[in-house]
Amino acid sequence: MQVWAVANQKGGVGKTTTVVTMAGLLAEVGYSVLLVDLDPHGSLTSYFGYDPDELERSVYDLFDSDEPLDREMVRSLIVPTSHDRISMVPAATSLATLERKAVGQEGLGLQVAKALRQVQADYDFVLIDSPPVLGVLMVNALAAAHHLLVPVQTEFLAMKGLERMVRTIRMINRARRRELRYTIIPTFYDRRTQASVNSLRELHHRYPGEISSAVVPTDTKLRNASIAGVVPSELDSSSRGVHAYARLLRSLLESSKQEAS
Ligand SMILES: Nc1ncnc2c1ncn2[C@@H]1O[C@H](COP(=O)(O)OP(=O)(O)O)[C@@H](O)[C@H]1O
Ligand SMILES: [Mg+2]
Repeated sequence: MQVWAVANQKGGVGKTTTVVTMAGLLAEVGYSVLLVDLDPHGSLTSYFGYDPDELERSVYDLFDSDEPLDREMVRSLIVPTSHDRISMVPAATSLATLERKAVGQEGLGLQVAKALRQVQADYDFVLIDSPPVLGVLMVNALAAAHHLLVPVQTEFLAMKGLERMVRTIRMINRARRRELRYTIIPTFYDRRTQASVNSLRELHHRYPGEISSAVVPTDTKLRNASIAGVVPSELDSSSRGVHAYARLLRSLLESSKQEAS
């Protein structure tokens, strides 16, 4: 089981879209995928038609429950999605209260990693969507991940948020046994705008080893898929956005194969 987290300390950069699109593409080639929604806003949860205000069980239970964190408990948090090879641990709005509660509680940073270990025989891939703030939830996502995907909007102020994220990754890496590697994914690219062209050039210049060669263009079909509640490749597999994510996936699968050998 491979765990990929998607994170950036900035909202609206395409994190949730990256999770959903990549999950759809992985499922299409036959992998079974588990999604984990760690964002209190619950966009991923809502994407698949669940209301994060109404759910009785959610990822929140990993942090605030007396139940033993065993296989049965973790399985009881998992719900189906519109795609039969994609399942999900949904978010609840109550996650937002966690940052306050977690202060002073040692060990809560590994809850998601521990939970995933319980179900590692059940899935080929886990994709974690994380909130845009550095706190106990993002720490959980980064601690559980084998690889990190960082979507970055190709616009004027893109570098600022990314610098913060890279500092966070460095901090996390000081506490990890195995270095967390990351891939920067340029998103909302529009080659007709100078801001897109310039920021892509800057990303290549500053992060030559981390930048993905696949660039995700601005593509309204990705937004349409979210309105329909289906993975983008199911709505239109020939869209430019889906093509870009498919390229990204090929290169990630290739490098994880190389790492393993
Ligand atoms: N490449 C893209 N082209 C057009 N719209 C996009 C693209 N990526 C995401 N969106 C839309 O932009 C909005 C924000 O994207 P989202 O993935 O929710 O960002 P985040 O999770 O980082 O906050 C959503 O409405 C989504 O459908
Ligand atoms: Mg999101």
